[in-house]
Amino acid sequence: MNKNKAAVAGKSRDGFTSSFGVLAATLGSAVGLGNIWKFPYLTGTNGGAGFLIVYVLATLVVGLPVMIAEIMLGRKAKADAFTTLKTLAPAGQPWWVISVMGVAAAFLIMAFYSEVAAWVFAYVFKAMGSSIVTHDPKVTSAAFGQLISDPLQSLLWQWLVLALIAGILLMGVAKGIEAVAKKLMPLLFLLLLVVGARSLMLPGASAGVGFLFHPDFSKISAGVVLTAVGLAFFKLSIGMGTMMTYGSYFRDDQNIPATTLRVMCADLFVSMLAGLAIFPAVFAFGFEPAAGPSLLFITIPAVFASMPLGHLFMVVFFFLTAISAVGAMLSLLEVPVSVISGRFHMSRVKATILTLLLLLVVGSGCALSNSSMAGFKVFGMTLFDLFDFCTSNVLLPLGGILLCIFTGWVWGLDRTRLALSNQGALNNQGLCRLLVFLLRYVSPLLILVVMLKGLKVF
Ligand code: PHE
Repeated sequence: MNKNKAAVAGKSRDGFTSSFGVLAATLGSAVGLGNIWKFPYLTGTNGGAGFLIVYVLATLVVGLPVMIAEIMLGRKAKADAFTTLKTLAPAGQPWWVISVMGVAAAFLIMAFYSEVAAWVFAYVFKAMGSSIVTHDPKVTSAAFGQLISDPLQSLLWQWLVLALIAGILLMGVAKGIEAVAKKLMPLLFLLLLVVGARSLMLPGASAGVGFLFHPDFSKISAGVVLTAVGLAFFKLSIGMGTMMTYGSYFRDDQNIPATTLRVMCADLFVSMLAGLAIFPAVFAFGFEPAAGPSLLFITIPAVFASMPLGHLFMVVFFFLTAISAVGAMLSLLEVPVSVISGRFHMSRVKATILTLLLLLVVGSGCALSNSSMAGFKVFGMTLFDLFDFCTSNVLLPLGGILLCIFTGWVWGLDRTRLALSNQGALNNQGLCRLLVFLLRYVSPLLILVVMLKGLKVF
C-alpha cells in the first residue's frame, strides 16, 4: 500500500518537462540582480578587471564543482533539500544541517533581495515618468533617497514583488517556474544585447571597456577574494540547496555536467553584458564607477538620461533587471516552500503562503533599513547589509564547504560516476574523477582559507 502510494507520488511529482525548460529555469535561478546590481557595483568598488579575474577563477574552481554536486544529489533523491540530505547520508549523520542553513539563507537573501527587486520595479515606473530622467546625479540620488527612506513605499513595493513571486510559485514547478523562465530568459538576453550595444557605441566607451578588462592586481586583498568567492556562490545560487532543489526536478536523461557548464557560461556572459552596458556609459559621461550598491539606482539613470534615446533605454534596462530578478526569487522561495511541504506534509499552497507570511516579517526589517529602522544596527550594519554580508560571506561558503566534503568523502566516486553518467549512458569517467578530486582536496580547502582570511580569523 505504502509502496504504491510512493510510486504514484513519485510518478506525479512536479518537475521540469523539457530540456530547454531545465536550462531556462536553472539559468533563471542563476541570472538575477547578482548580474545586474551586485556584479557591476562589486567590480566597480573592487578595482575592475582584477576582481573580475578572481571572480571567474572562483566560479570555475569552486562554483562549478559545487553546482554539479548539488544538482546530482538533488536528482538522485528527487526530494526537497532536507529529505535529499537525510536520505543520501548514512544513518545518524546530520548532513541535513546544510539544508537547515540553506533555508535560513533563503529567508535572509530573500529579505534584502526582494527589497532591491522592489526598487527595480518602482524604477520601471519612475523611468516611464520624468522624475529620474536627468543627467544630474544629485537629482537621481535625491530621488533614490526619497524612495528608500519612505517606509510605506518600501514596504508596499516589496509586498507587491513577494505576492507576484508567490503567485507564480502557486502554479507549480512546470506550469509556474518553468513556463515563466522559458518566456523571460530569451527576452532578457535580447534586451541586454540591445542596451549593451547602445552603450558600447557611445564616444569614450573604451575607458569603461578597459576598466573591465585591464587588471590592476594591487587592489586585490583577502577581503576582495572572499567577496569574489561569495559572489560566485551567490551568482550560481549554490551552497544553500537551491540547485539541489532544482536538481530534483531535472529529467533523468539530462546531461548534468553539460547543462551546468552551459548555465555557468551563460551566467558569466550576462554579467559581462551587464558590465558592458554599464561601465562604458559610466566612463563616457564621467561618472564614478565605485558608487557602490546605489550604482544601479543613482548613476545609471543619470547615465541613460545623458545619452540619445536614453529615456527609452532606461525603461528597457530596468524592465529587464526586473525580469532577471523574478527567476532568481522563484528559486530562492522554492527552497523553503519545498522543504516545508516535504517535511511537514503540507500542501504546496499552504507551504507557499506560510513562507510568504514569514518573509513579510523578515523582509520588512530590510525594507525599513533605510527609514524607520535605520538606527537599528548589528555589528555596525543595518539588517539589509548584515543579511547580505552574512549570506554571501559566511552561510553560502560554509554550505559549500560542507557540500564538498559530503559529496567528495561520504557520497564518493563510484556513486558520482553512476549518477553523472546517467547510469552508464554517458562517457564521462575522467570528468567524474576530476570533479571528485576537486571536491575532496581543492575546493573545500580553498573556500576555507579564503573565508578565514577574508573574515580576518587569522
Ligand atoms: N543567483 C541569483 C542572482 O544572481 C541570486 C540567488 C542566490 C538565487 C541564491 C538563488 C539562491 O541574482
